[in-house]
Amino acid sequence: MKKIIKNGTIVTASDTYQAEILIEDGKIVQIGTNLSAIGAEVIDAKGCLVFPGGIDPHTHLDMPFGGTVTKDDFESGTIAAAFGGTTTIIDFCLTNKGEPLKNAIQTWHEKSKDKAVIDYSFHLMISEINDKVLNELPQVIHDEGITSFKVFMAYKNVFQSDDETLFKTFVTAKELGALVMVHAENGDVIDYLTKKALAEGKTDPIYHALTRPAELEGEATGRAARMCGLADSQLYVVHVSCAEAVKQITEARKKGFNVWGETCPQYLVLDQSYLEKPNFEGAKYVWSPPLREKWNQEVLWNALKNGELHTFGSDQCSFDFKGQKELGRGDFTKIPNGGPMIEDRLTILFSEGVKKGRISLNQFVDLVSTRAAKLFGLFPKKGTIAIGADADIVIFDPNIERVISAETHHMAVDYNAFEGMKVIGEPVSVLVRGEYVIKDKQFVGKPGSGQYLKRAKFNMNAPIHQNETLSI
Ligand code: URP
Ligand code: ZN
Ligand code: ZN
Repeated sequence: MKKIIKNGTIVTASDTYQAEILIEDGKIVQIGTNLSAIGAEVIDAKGCLVFPGGIDPHTHLDMPFGGTVTKDDFESGTIAAAFGGTTTIIDFCLTNKGEPLKNAIQTWHEKSKDKAVIDYSFHLMISEINDKVLNELPQVIHDEGITSFKVFMAYKNVFQSDDETLFKTFVTAKELGALVMVHAENGDVIDYLTKKALAEGKTDPIYHALTRPAELEGEATGRAARMCGLADSQLYVVHVSCAEAVKQITEARKKGFNVWGETCPQYLVLDQSYLEKPNFEGAKYVWSPPLREKWNQEVLWNALKNGELHTFGSDQCSFDFKGQKELGRGDFTKIPNGGPMIEDRLTILFSEGVKKGRISLNQFVDLVSTRAAKLFGLFPKKGTIAIGADADIVIFDPNIERVISAETHHMAVDYNAFEGMKVIGEPVSVLVRGEYVIKDKQFVGKPGSGQYLKRAKFNMNAPIHQNETLSI
């Protein structure tokens, strides 16, 4: 079915202009004025922005963690993502030491196939580097198109890797053309501080934040960046929460190291005081890195504006308050880490960023979509409005005012971390490869319609070149 989007304002990472878009066979085939095509459905986008579907490079759906499993799976999570204007996610595939990588990837395919309503891909967690893993990785890249590896520097005795593994991952990624993603916190010191806090009877949610100080995020970020520089490799620091980490990324980039940083909505609008909410409600805001003192927010906003941070992920990792977060009553270390963020990612950045003059509209598109497409080997198929690109398109009303609430959200989880927040702007319709998933704010998609995306190898030049050629 052909579609023509008329009367809207097209926004990409570089341009804002009035034009029409003709969609055929899931692709953008023409951009211009007075377009027509026999049998085409005309979509009136009057008063709306028309931008590329969001790409969320950081989700955890159907993930076992903290003695339980995330509440949102690939069905509820991708439906909520679509309502929020996201058309592609890249989820983290967990691995276990000794287990063939292909088994872990198969597990993630089973979790997602028949469920996802938007397109998706996987990053691969690296828990060890040995001959078996080294033999398997080229196949992972070639057969699965998984071109980003994730190493945890925290969560001791669960996910944490040592420095040798991290450094070997950088060396391997350089050879294979993959991007290394790092959760940067010093897990050993955090382990010491949490044990000490518990021994002193400090069990409330706030101690989650107090035992993971910003210095330890800054230290780990700097350590990872130096290793990356030494290996002449490439590093993407996930969920940057504080000034100390931004400083390390900026310094590394000044030295010419290939380092990029991601932040997330929660760090821009919530702060450490939320963990002190009474009646154990602080547990709703327990994730890692933790929420920081409020002054860090301005540093993060400036870093987004100045290009010191590059992408905006959700770190979606949702657990119900009842029955899941509650596992940590009396012991904050047992509160499953993570929050529900996938749905409100675009709206928060638009409302708090663009509407408040902190970032431009084009920066907004770059942060929520284009830059992730470039860094993670999806550009120019995804992440832009251009002839030949997939017709992943958000028709966004920039003037709708609403209040975020668990009562109206589409995630499966029983609370919303942004409850009561007034925001401006909402996706009205969302297309994935030319098909509606959200139409006039109603879900009309189909579980299983999301396609798995094999991604290209990491390309140093992709992040800076705007004008790649497209073929239809
Ligand atoms: O607390 C968080 N962020 N949970 C998800 C796992 C991770 O560290 O990204
Ligand atoms: Zn993490
Ligand atoms: Zn995460």
